[in-house]
Amino acid sequence: MAFERHPAWLDHAVFYEIYPQSFRDTNADGIGDFRGIIEKLDYIRDLGCNALWLNPCFASPFRDAGYDVSDYYTAAPRYGTNQDLACLFEEAHRRGFHVFLDLVPGHTSTDHPWFEASCRGTPNEFTDRYVWTDSVWEGLEGSRSLHGISERAGSVIVNFFSHQPALNYGFYRVEKPWQQPMDAPGPRATVKEMKRVMAFWLGLGCDGFRVDMAGSLVKNDPEQRGTIALWQGIRRWLDEAFPQAALVSEWGCPDRSLEAGFHMDFLLHFGPSHYNDLFRCEEPFFSARGKGSAAEFMAHYLLYREKAGAGGLIAFPSGNHDMERLARRLSPEEIRLAFAFLLTMPGVPFIYYGDEIGMRYVENLLSVEGGSERTGARSPMQWSDAANAGFSAAPPEKLYIPLDPDPGRPTAAAQQADPDSLWHTVQALLRLRRAHPALDNTGDFVLLQAEGYPLVYRRQAGEEAVTVVVNPADRPCRVAVSGRLLHTVGRGAARDGDVLAVEGCTVALVQA
Ligand code: NOJ
Ligand code: CA
Repeated sequence: MAFERHPAWLDHAVFYEIYPQSFRDTNADGIGDFRGIIEKLDYIRDLGCNALWLNPCFASPFRDAGYDVSDYYTAAPRYGTNQDLACLFEEAHRRGFHVFLDLVPGHTSTDHPWFEASCRGTPNEFTDRYVWTDSVWEGLEGSRSLHGISERAGSVIVNFFSHQPALNYGFYRVEKPWQQPMDAPGPRATVKEMKRVMAFWLGLGCDGFRVDMAGSLVKNDPEQRGTIALWQGIRRWLDEAFPQAALVSEWGCPDRSLEAGFHMDFLLHFGPSHYNDLFRCEEPFFSARGKGSAAEFMAHYLLYREKAGAGGLIAFPSGNHDMERLARRLSPEEIRLAFAFLLTMPGVPFIYYGDEIGMRYVENLLSVEGGSERTGARSPMQWSDAANAGFSAAPPEKLYIPLDPDPGRPTAAAQQADPDSLWHTVQALLRLRRAHPALDNTGDFVLLQAEGYPLVYRRQAGEEAVTVVVNPADRPCRVAVSGRLLHTVGRGAARDGDVLAVEGCTVALVQA
């Protein structure tokens, strides 16, 4: 069952991902906050985005940057109150934005009161809220567990880090007495509670969710048939109760997640998509060395598109809080071309804060809040040349994560003032996408060439067709394509009769 149709606002949505800790601090405690996000909404709108994804902002001990929730119904005090978050929704809506929160349905923090109750020896409402075995010596094959921590007998399965016990959505194949089927009362109560959480925030004004580890919920489910069925149920409920609410999954397998009823799934740094071939490997396709290949990626992408059907969208992220930044492997010039590709593909683009100015991956940082090597991609946003790059008025040693120490670090202010900057390249591409239905989220896509360089595809809507020639290699190429040159990023292109002569390190758009 491919999804029929997504809410109409997704047809033109362009997301901006905000890692709230590092975006903008307005009370000088060294950590970003809701007021800081509100303050910068105009900046995001001017860039050309019209939707936000906020990384987790619920109460949490923050051992995994908030992916370890201790109360799903309360905003993390360090960012502000529920009221402040509602105000953020309102301010965003006033500017025509939609806002996604990050929903973490697979696990909680060990500090969550549900977990504390679940550990008790006397049966209670939360006894079956998590995945427990019946003996402290027993675990689940292929998973890690915590044991020796509870009054009750048994080990609890963890979903990610060891402080993130797995919520119980049941087992697809039940093989042991302690494994509960998906329709047992415990798993059903978990689903009911997660719907309550969603309804609570949607009621307060949020427009949907990025769903963390969406494919992880049902255990012993190798083909994910159980998890797919579970999400299809949630989808049916949402369609009734909140038909405009949208969902994007962190699954990385659009052929499964879109069937599960998600409107969009990400292409990610993990999973089978070969997304890394483009930007994050030894020889990325977008390197001017011209030794990479987009062929495997495109083969998978075409397959995903077919499975997604007309209503499903594939989300192209420039990066995220888990991946190294584009700038770790690509030069500023190469990043421009990467954006020219990201913003001329169909589906929904997601720009990770700071990628629009080419923020660097900060090397050799100590791990902050479970960030580990991801910490370097989570450093404070560089707004200007003011103290702490305009991120915060706190003393530098109090900043949540140290700033990029490079004196030449890019800033939003400098790039906004320079018409030739990456920021303006991104802005121009987003304007173009908006002005040309062929280039927008749902315009058709026809792959014309994916072997070697250049990569060539056609976007199409109604009467309009735009051919995109992506030539990141530092050598010119010639492509037989008719029509007028609409836009170039990079060195340039010129018409030579029926042929378009494209310089090296260039993306050219031709309109027919
Ligand atoms: C994926 C999130 O993106 C990541 O940051 C987090 O650590 C894990 N899921 C666990 O929730
Ligand atoms: Ca703050």
